[in-house]
Amino acid sequence: MKARVGVLISGRGSNMASLVEASHASDCPYEIVLVISNVPDAPGLAFAAANGIPQFALSHKGMKRVEYDSIIDGVLRDANVEYVALAGYMRLLSPEFVAKWAGRIVNIHPALLPAYKGVDTHQRVLDAGETKHGATVHIVTAELDDGPILAQAEVPVFPSDDVDALAARVLIEEHKLYPKAMADLVRRR
Ligand code: GAR
Repeated sequence: MKARVGVLISGRGSNMASLVEASHASDCPYEIVLVISNVPDAPGLAFAAANGIPQFALSHKGMKRVEYDSIIDGVLRDANVEYVALAGYMRLLSPEFVAKWAGRIVNIHPALLPAYKGVDTHQRVLDAGETKHGATVHIVTAELDDGPILAQAEVPVFPSDDVDALAARVLIEEHKLYPKAMADLVRRR
């Protein structure tokens, strides 16, 4: 039996798509059973629909964080989800939600954590004149972009890079890193 994974997105959903594509391999230990978005018109939802994956979309606007997260928790439980993967989910989760899923929520962040938590990582890396950048998959805790690191991928930063070039180089690594880190985590349990 493959482990049941629910993915939370807010936008493009390319990391979610990489998890879905990897999950189709017969030796992949997980399957993506649900895609949830806090942005009802997130482009990633179309990919989920085209792949026959159940979706749930609900805007968080006007709701208290803890109320919103409790609805999401219910939707995940109704689908018998065992692991939650954040894939470009641009919202902080309530400590209550994180506690309920402790050790079973993972996130991908476009930086070599613990450096460059938060948003606009590629621009900040360029501004700082770094020569290395990358992506991190980690267990989610109540602190933003914190929690035990599961895997990292490094890329070089070239003097000619702009944000788009650097983001594209990192994203190629994200799409390899996330499916592998997810599979490793599930296999360890
Ligand atoms: C990815 O680069 C992901 O690492 C980043 O947002 C992008 C989402 O792209 N996540 C964060 O910044 C979370 N702090 P995607 O929607 O195509 O997967």
